[in-house]
Amino acid sequence: MPRFDVETRAIWGYLDSVIRFPADFTWGAATAAYQIEGAWAEDGKGESIWDRFCHGGGHVVGGDSGDRACDHYHRWGEDIALLRELGVGAYRFSVAWTRVMPDGTGAVNQRGLDFYRRLCDALLEAGITPWLTLYHWDLPQALQERGGWARREIADWFAEYAAVVARALGDRVRHWIPLNEPQVFAMLGHLIGHHAPGVINPLGFGAVAHHANLAHGRAVAALRAEAGPGARVGTAMQTPPIHPSTSSPEDAAAARRFDGLMNRWYLDAVLRGRYPEDTLELLGPLGATAAIKAGDLELIAAPLDFVGVNHYTRVFVRHEPAVPLVALLPDEARRVPGAQYTDMGWEVYPAGLGEVLGRLRDDYGNPEVVITENGCASPDRVVGGEVADAARIAYLEAYLGEAAAALAAGSRLTGYFQWSLLDNFEWAFGYGKRFGLVHVDYDTLRRTPKASARWYAALVKSGEIRGGAGRGV
Ligand code: FCB
Repeated sequence: MPRFDVETRAIWGYLDSVIRFPADFTWGAATAAYQIEGAWAEDGKGESIWDRFCHGGGHVVGGDSGDRACDHYHRWGEDIALLRELGVGAYRFSVAWTRVMPDGTGAVNQRGLDFYRRLCDALLEAGITPWLTLYHWDLPQALQERGGWARREIADWFAEYAAVVARALGDRVRHWIPLNEPQVFAMLGHLIGHHAPGVINPLGFGAVAHHANLAHGRAVAALRAEAGPGARVGTAMQTPPIHPSTSSPEDAAAARRFDGLMNRWYLDAVLRGRYPEDTLELLGPLGATAAIKAGDLELIAAPLDFVGVNHYTRVFVRHEPAVPLVALLPDEARRVPGAQYTDMGWEVYPAGLGEVLGRLRDDYGNPEVVITENGCASPDRVVGGEVADAARIAYLEAYLGEAAAALAAGSRLTGYFQWSLLDNFEWAFGYGKRFGLVHVDYDTLRRTPKASARWYAALVKSGEIRGGAGRGV
């Protein structure tokens, strides 16, 4: 990375500018159960669709699985100490449904609940507020065998589970997120088969997409009923800007359609209580029309306390007549000249965060917003006990700059969670993609805070970003 001397700084005056966040802004870090816990079959835990997907082989790079992951299930004390070092006020994690209800419904596994009770107690003792996600993609395999997200009953099963967790942890947890990224698990798990359960079924996709919204709505109602009067309930949606690959009218139309499938189907339902007409036209014949019943949308649109935004990059879309039914395709080969790309191959495009926040502000009634995930993968290595991840610092600085600009423009942004506390199991990419502020050696499970962890700790402490600080000025 370049070093700037004093004269250069004077010329590039903006490098010295200070961005200051509000004093009561929530700073946090995020993880998810399957990506860090390991202990996949311990203490009565049931099998999840990700256990099955990984064990089946052929789906995940390197044949990796979450069997051991970061072994957080046994090392959670050490991980809370890392959160303390960061100084964050909040920690977003997810509960593994199969630890709590091994078959998805019915019998409750006390040992599973006890694990999360201990975790929450230790967090609270450390002065860290738990933010609990109920579903970060690890559906009980037993429910998959009963039809999973293709069945309307998924909403009943999810509400039952939500109520169990709310009753057990409602005295400790105030912040609740029912589903992580419904648009992503629906699309990757049920349309293109890249994620568990590996289903490729366009004809049933509309039903899955509606059931995800319905399950959200039912869980919100269960949490309101069971989690105590102070509960704050929100979302964690990935709603990236969708841009056409070229200026052709076909690509523009494809981008609009994809925006409907990925973004408006969920945002319009949850925040406006209706489905967008154009997306309904697309998904109706794919099972949505048959799935939507009277009263569903009222339930789905129950008021929330915050909208969670998971954000990484933008998506380009091109018209592809060879693709049946939807005639569109994320254009992963599209490269922007001069742009930087992360280790995931995702474009570093901070303006995209501004676009998402602007959309919520201008088109969706300016709800309270929390960035529930943001971060990047880089090929980090420990050298002499240090991990010099300057690219991550630059990424976070740039995106937080956009967050600050959105605040100045009137967005009601109240918090930011960095993804992720630890390097972890990056789904179909396995352990090769490192998103952590803390490096994990997967042989020894040794944790080594990266340079970005120190940078983040300084930000959390001061509430300020000093331009250029992360670039070795
Ligand atoms: C998000 C997921 C999270 C992580 C990041 C990189 O889509 O919610 O689990 O994999 O991407």
